[in-house]
Amino acid sequence: MGEPPDRRGFLKVATCCVGGGVALAAGVPVVGLLVDPAGKQTVSSGKDPFDLGALSRFAVGAPPTRVEIVAPVVKDAWTAATNVVLGAAFIQRTTPDTIVALSAVCPHLGCAVGFDAKAGNYLCPCHDSRFALDGAKTTGPSERGLDPLPVKVVGDRLELTWVRYKLGQTSREPA
Ligand code: FES
Repeated sequence: MGEPPDRRGFLKVATCCVGGGVALAAGVPVVGLLVDPAGKQTVSSGKDPFDLGALSRFAVGAPPTRVEIVAPVVKDAWTAATNVVLGAAFIQRTTPDTIVALSAVCPHLGCAVGFDAKAGNYLCPCHDSRFALDGAKTTGPSERGLDPLPVKVVGDRLELTWVRYKLGQTSREPA
């Protein structure tokens, strides 16, 4: 003798509800885990100022000093890397109170610009763009001069904020 039809129907519905509830409870955290990073801000460069050391390190009137900009930690949505070299900058102290900071990233296609001590100016080895000590372009295909970077004296130390700009255009826009 079988169960009455209404009892069988109730058991089917109850089983489906319990099964669905269990699947939902197990699935929500997994979906959240997979989707969560997409909603987080991706950090690809240091936003806080970098301590470049004592101001006395940069002698007045000396040739530009190349400094590497190293981020202690760079995170994106899924990973974190330590001691990441973001780029380099040239620092020149032209007077006790005037500091010129220029990105060493060539604005043309992003090669590393060097200081040509013999010529007393900056040279990009990739396509021979040259830049004056103040960063102005003098020759070559670069669409603009070297990008200035914000610096600040804090106590007896120098801080620099790293900015990467878009390449290959005359206007200066953060990338
Ligand atoms: S990348 Fe520097 S001149 Fe082309």
